[in-house]
Amino acid sequence: MDYRRTYVRDLFALAPGTDTSAYGWVKTRRDSKGLSFVQLSDGSCFKDLQVIFNEGVVPADILKQITTGACLRIDGTIVESPAAGQSVELLATSVELYGAADPVTYPLQKKGASFEYLREIAHLRGRGNTFGAVYRVRNRAAYATHTFFQKRGFQYIHTPIITASDAEGAGAMFAVSTKLEAHDGKYKLTSHDPSEDFFGKPAFLTVSGQLEAETLAMGLTNVYTFGPTFRAENSSTSRHLAEFWMIEPEMAFCDLAGDMNLAEEFLKEVIGDIMENCGDDLAFFNQRIEPQLLETLGHVVNSPFERLTYTEAIKLLEQGGEKFEYPIHWGADLQSEHERWLTEVKVGRPVILTDYPKEIKAFYMRANEDGKTVRAMDVLAPRIGEIIGGSQREERLDVLEARILEMGLPLEAYWWYLDLRRYGSAPHAGFGLGFERLLLYVTGMKNIRDVIPYHRTPGHAEF
Ligand code: 4AD
Ligand code: MG
Repeated sequence: MDYRRTYVRDLFALAPGTDTSAYGWVKTRRDSKGLSFVQLSDGSCFKDLQVIFNEGVVPADILKQITTGACLRIDGTIVESPAAGQSVELLATSVELYGAADPVTYPLQKKGASFEYLREIAHLRGRGNTFGAVYRVRNRAAYATHTFFQKRGFQYIHTPIITASDAEGAGAMFAVSTKLEAHDGKYKLTSHDPSEDFFGKPAFLTVSGQLEAETLAMGLTNVYTFGPTFRAENSSTSRHLAEFWMIEPEMAFCDLAGDMNLAEEFLKEVIGDIMENCGDDLAFFNQRIEPQLLETLGHVVNSPFERLTYTEAIKLLEQGGEKFEYPIHWGADLQSEHERWLTEVKVGRPVILTDYPKEIKAFYMRANEDGKTVRAMDVLAPRIGEIIGGSQREERLDVLEARILEMGLPLEAYWWYLDLRRYGSAPHAGFGLGFERLLLYVTGMKNIRDVIPYHRTPGHAEF
């Protein structure tokens, strides 16, 4: 057996009369007038291959085991299909059963099982229509991301997952230590002294690769990271994960306007690529998950994003006459209800908000002349809210030092970050895009736990 094989997606292109083999898992089987019809999937495309078993082709004891979930190789001949919606099917001549799936206990039997239930069997859900489609779109989105940046001369860099610095200055980090041992279902701390720990100081899982990306942009000009990111915020919402993937470009010689242009181009190009290459998957989402998905995505690709300052947005929110759970005023952080009102009710497409109050943004954002706002930008999307967060960075040493101190952060910890401003500083900008938020947007799925194979959320790290 070799990894080289004809995927189901390629079998559809074979001429009738061709002898071939199909490998995959049984989605459904039905019998009629001595014939058995099996829908077979190998995950290579949305469509299943229909396989026909004439009576007597397969021994009865094997045929009995060809039930939902079973894994098989079927040898046969491609024939024209009389059924609507498919060009060809496979007429079986023999079968090798790799693994049966007991119909009494197989957990992925039920049609229409809830997403909550499927999350409990995440190790099997990839075999179904919805999650097969989600994972294929996820794969294509990652590919399109690399293509987008590579075409533009950005260098792909890898930033560390374990770090001693708090990139967002927000403190929602998971600690990494070898001094914590688990015995008999209990934790035991074997040292209270960080200097005795593995790294000789407190270490954490990264909340963002940005600061390290900035160091490489100051030398390689345009770079991007695309890796796992961790946040220990205890928020069990449909848009937050404790472990998610972030795409972070960082550009030397770039300001906020350039940053916004890149963000807008990125979303348009990646969404356009997925529409072009995952048509069957998106058609399914459009039909079963989010009506008007295709229309909305087409609109996003073809119309300019609205650009507003935070101050303008607050005025719109105040004058909109909408009753919000969280009252809105200048200086307040936008809640998801505000973001949704702006994008869904007021504008009807993605909005880029800029120039937020410095109090609600991270220490590294470039200060505006008004002394109150910073050169931040968030891209907000209908249904999702914030999908991208970025800024022009503070490149002036004295301003940055003052800001770090003002925010009560330890100056020493950022010595290497400050060195970038000490030696050959340059105006620069970048952003972070939550990969799973993008996938929510593109697939129309409602819960972020359903666009990553194995979600990490409060109370959940089973597999
Ligand atoms: O806005 P954030 O916190 O920005 C940063 O981390 C910057 N350092 C990025 C940069 O400028 N290089 O996060 C960026 C994006 C958010 O807009 C959101 O899409 C996503 O990351 N995100 C999350 N996605 C899923 N679960 C969470 N808990 C998330 N927190 C942020
Ligand atoms: Mg943000």
